Amino acid sequence: METQLWREILSPYELCVDEIMVKFNHLIDEFKNKGEYSPIEQVQGRVKSISSIIDKAQKKNVPLDRIEEEIDDIAGIRIICQFVEDIYAVVDIIRQRKDMIIKEEKDYINHMKKSGYRSYHLIVYYTVETLSGHKQVQVEIQIRTLAMNFWSTIEHSMQYKYKGAVPLDIRRRLSRAADAVIILDQEMSAIKNEIKEAQDSFRMKASMVADILTNIHSLSKVIDEEELNEIQKEFDSIYKDQNMEELAKFNQKLDKIAESYHLQSLSSINNFGFRR
Ligand code: GTP
Ligand code: MG
Repeated sequence: METQLWREILSPYELCVDEIMVKFNHLIDEFKNKGEYSPIEQVQGRVKSISSIIDKAQKKNVPLDRIEEEIDDIAGIRIICQFVEDIYAVVDIIRQRKDMIIKEEKDYINHMKKSGYRSYHLIVYYTVETLSGHKQVQVEIQIRTLAMNFWSTIEHSMQYKYKGAVPLDIRRRLSRAADAVIILDQEMSAIKNEIKEAQDSFRMKASMVADILTNIHSLSKVIDEEELNEIQKEFDSIYKDQNMEELAKFNQKLDKIAESYHLQSLSSINNFGFRR
């Protein structure tokens, strides 16, 4: 098939991957803006390369005029989560959506593959609008934890290196590593609330410090140098102690000074904390 023809075939899949990535990334933003934990940690996407499509079509005996029906992972999305429970939360989110119609589900988490591979797979139908009208395409969505992703990336490299014939010894080690991933995910889930609290407080602190620095920057335009030095010194000493309450109090004080100069205070816009 000519390159131009391939471009025409793949173009809707490229649009599809771009759109779905924007949509899932926007969900992450929505969670964060509401100050809520996002079950989605990261989104990746790719369109299968022409050579991989040809290889797969040959392996599965699919004629080239049937590839769009028979090969369901030309468009691929990978959603990475922190915890196993998040995976099922993401599946629920997808089930509720009107723009993604689920064709097929495979739960390789409760039904691990012989290799040790774990992930939740969905094939969904997604409609894109192109110059020639709308077109429904199939997309494979793989949902997995960070730990599962680490394992499958390494295992995939081994498959690639050994062209599918991974030596028994390495396969055994990969299988043991897969068992370790199950335990790692279980342990992380067991201390999930502690982890989330730590992440929340880290995010709050980062956001508070960003607010303070923005406030100091705005004030630097209206106050004299001596006063600015005082504020900077006070911030340095409070920052050293890493005390959230003191940081919050200091920021309120800056807000008041800013108001007295008729500068718009940041916390009145932000309600503290959850800006990116
Ligand atoms: P094909 O789509 O023809 O490959 O078969 P299938 O639909 O039965 O595939 P499946 O749903 O099992 O897997 C599809 C994708 O999951 C693959 O393209 C890989 O990205 C991933 N995958 C499946 N099994 C493994 C595995 O053992 N190791 C790794 N690293 N990835 C896997
Ligand atoms: Mg498949």
